[in-house]
Amino acid sequence: MEYYTLPQTNLKASKIALGCMRIASKSVEEVEELVLTALNHGVNFFDHADIYGAGQSEVVFGEVLARNPNLRETMIIQSKCAIRPGICFDFSKEYILKSVEGSLERLQTDYLDVLLLHRPDALMDPKEVAEAFNELYELGKVHYFGVSNQKPSQIELLKKYCKQPIVINQLQFGPAHASMIDQGFYVNMEVPTAIDYDGAILDYCMLNDITIQPWSTIRETLNSETFIDNPEYPELNVVLETLATKYKVSKVAIVTAWILRHPSNMQPIAGTTSIKNLLDTLDAINVSLTREEWYQIYTANKVLP
Ligand SMILES: NC(=O)c1ccc[n+]([C@@H]2O[C@H](COP(=O)([O-])OP(=O)(O)OC[C@H]3O[C@@H](n4cnc5c(N)ncnc54)[C@H](OP(=O)(O)O)[C@@H]3O)[C@@H](O)[C@H]2O)c1
Repeated sequence: MEYYTLPQTNLKASKIALGCMRIASKSVEEVEELVLTALNHGVNFFDHADIYGAGQSEVVFGEVLARNPNLRETMIIQSKCAIRPGICFDFSKEYILKSVEGSLERLQTDYLDVLLLHRPDALMDPKEVAEAFNELYELGKVHYFGVSNQKPSQIELLKKYCKQPIVINQLQFGPAHASMIDQGFYVNMEVPTAIDYDGAILDYCMLNDITIQPWSTIRETLNSETFIDNPEYPELNVVLETLATKYKVSKVAIVTAWILRHPSNMQPIAGTTSIKNLLDTLDAINVSLTREEWYQIYTANKVLP
């Protein structure tokens, strides 16, 4: 595994993180094996949210921590708040504080290394968010803060009031969901691909030392099937297969290497719950794609101007 110190923090994080969205249906023993395998292969960053499995993902992970109390200090644990079932989104101070208390209790830990605001709240009062962040930081309950699925102006609004830096932005990104790169190719062109869906978030994050954490890297949208070995993505699979054969790794490793090859130092989040798929993904660390190969993957299902 390779590591980088996440900009604006002193967190030495593995270049690939493990996402815990899908572990809720697994037993404590299964999750323990997954987590120990990840740690043994150098993965030290674990992504959660209060809503994953209606809290059960954090519960089962917390059970693993309770069985292995020495592990907590070796891990970077991130959770998210503010998607509020039944109400939509809630960035109120009261709800942020309550959500973090719930995550700490379920995870059986005293602190989160990182807390993200999960999705934008149209009713956000940034002063309230700042108060919540201050309180959590002062009490030592959260060490660093970030966002997810936010555009530059939303982050700027938070930055105007929050004392703590915004260090992470978690966004969907992968070869089948690369609009944050696509738009850069169509500057000043009157074509649909030129539409700026995210306020040039990639450039903004690079300019502001905010680490992008790509989620759902092997699917086009959160709810679609993976494109790997999927006949609906023939061109992409041909390129992935060729490179997987060349580098003697799996297709998921090539996808992950494609993300790691971007100079913005993104930290992809693997969403697998299977030991085999996790180890396949981690092989990406040993693959350095050439510029030509990177573009072969990027252009597999599109034509550039
Ligand atoms: N901020 C946000 O809004 C947001 C949204 C979604 C997700 N996330 C975070 O991002 C993480 C990753 O998202 P995701 O779970 O959608 O990611 P993903 O890595 O795109 O998908 C993982 C799923 O694909 C399956 N899969 C099928 N073929 C696979 C292969 N060859 N290799 C690996 N997995 C394969 C896995 O099954 P197996 O388990 O059987 O391997 C698992 O069910 C989540 O855990 C969560 O932490 C954040």
